[in-house]
Amino acid sequence: MIQGAEAEIEILEDKVVKERPRKKYRHPELDQRIRKQRTQTEYNSMKKALRHDVSVPKIEQVSDYVLEIEKIDGKSLAENFKAEKMGEVGKHLGRLHSAEIVHGDMTTKNIMHSDKIYLIDFGLSGQSTRTEDRAVDLHLLKQVLKSSHSDKFEEAWENFMEGYRPEFREDVIQRLAEVEQRGRYK
Ligand SMILES: Nc1ncnc2c1ncn2[C@@H]1O[C@H](COP(=O)(O)OP(=O)(O)O)[C@@H](O)[C@H]1O
Ligand SMILES: [Mg+2]
Repeated sequence: MIQGAEAEIEILEDKVVKERPRKKYRHPELDQRIRKQRTQTEYNSMKKALRHDVSVPKIEQVSDYVLEIEKIDGKSLAENFKAEKMGEVGKHLGRLHSAEIVHGDMTTKNIMHSDKIYLIDFGLSGQSTRTEDRAVDLHLLKQVLKSSHSDKFEEAWENFMEGYRPEFREDVIQRLAEVEQRGRYK
């Protein structure tokens, strides 16, 4: 069993079971609402992503708090970083944004790879067409690449952009530069 930030992941033969258990520090009603909402959001976003040919594992909802997800036989990009896979990441994040979904937690821990890459962990995702929200996905990913994979950063980012750009519009890339400027002068 993997204890994530908020979920428990049980890895079985051919699937993983992701459950959001009770958090005692939250008020019970609020706790239920958050767990239900994140489970539902994760399910809805991944189903929609699949329909738009974004590479995500197949998913089924078992109950208000439990999802069954296709098991990916591989590692996360955080554990086993491959700069040459970042073009594929860009392509799929671009498609996700075109499907009007933003990921909300776009770190290398939430990208898996086997023969191909898969985006996972959609509990904080949302429906959005805002340039700003899209730029924030790019910004977080760029920060993680810089801090955790700094020796491969230049190559990784170039590959990412090559994948993302054709799938999406220049306005997001322009906005990313603005988000970065804001970060700098905060
Ligand atoms: N479909 C999957 N196949 C294989 N491993 C997975 C899968 N989904 C999640 N995992 C593993 O479980 C970890 C936590 O899952 P994740 O969905 O990111 O939950 P959390 O919200 O707790 O971060 C991932 O980093 C990965 O190692
Ligand atoms: Mg995660």
